[in-house]
Amino acid sequence: MTQHAMNNIPNHVAIIMDGNGRWANVRGLPRSMGHRKGVEAVREAVRTAAEAGIGYLTLFAFSSENWSRPESEVSDLMGLLKTFIRRDLDSLHRENVRIRVIGDRTNLRSDILPLLLEAEERTRDNTAITLVIAFNYGSRDEIARAMRSIAGDVAAGLLHPADVSPDLISARLDTAGIPDPDLIIRTSGEERLSNFLLWQAAYAELMFIPDFWPDFTRATFLAALAAYAGRERRFGGVPAATLAVGS
Ligand code: IPE
Ligand code: IPE
Ligand code: MG
Repeated sequence: MTQHAMNNIPNHVAIIMDGNGRWANVRGLPRSMGHRKGVEAVREAVRTAAEAGIGYLTLFAFSSENWSRPESEVSDLMGLLKTFIRRDLDSLHRENVRIRVIGDRTNLRSDILPLLLEAEERTRDNTAITLVIAFNYGSRDEIARAMRSIAGDVAAGLLHPADVSPDLISARLDTAGIPDPDLIIRTSGEERLSNFLLWQAAYAELMFIPDFWPDFTRATFLAALAAYAGRERRFGGVPAATLAVGS
């Protein structure tokens, strides 16, 4: 399917890439192989999103709770992120992809943070699509950091408590300047948000797909976009059809 064949494309799609471990498990492979295969699915997803005309693609790569995994798995995941940025930054830049990273940057390993900063810096003027990488990301941690920054400004007299509005809070989150997700997809059949974009997800359409992340292909993605196009979003209002008939 080409870009012009689809309408009602979401501006921002966020994906909880889940099921790498189970993908490997059912094949009798170590979990690390699932993560490796997952990186290939990431490449395909970015390409598909750009072609479909999606403005922002957020990928949940590592949560603030994933540190509780065995040290070897954490180290595999860190290694894969490093390799991904090293190997793919040139081509992403050539494809006009802008990269943003959300999540807590304090105490990140010294071999990771500079790579993330370089990826953001080099691609900052790109305009095709923004790839938001959620790394060391947890929504409650993000909200707590935003509250701390607002509280600091209030204590310093820079802000009045009455200034604290939903817009101000949004502007203090890691996602400042990024529109709220229109569609959140989670693979692997789990139906939960796992501390992902809790504030930003207020009116997102949620989609739970049974496939494990490494099996998430271009066709799966396009099918999800087609399903999204058929959904009616109301934002607290009344159905558009009711309005047309009743007014
Ligand atoms: C998602 O796959 C990748 C990360 C969380 C980094 P999982 O590793 O969670 O795979 P399952 O859920 O155990 O199958
Ligand atoms: C969410 O998946 C985190 C990422 C995809 C990076 P998890 O596998 O960590 O979530 P739970 O533990 O099943 O809720
Ligand atoms: Mg999981």
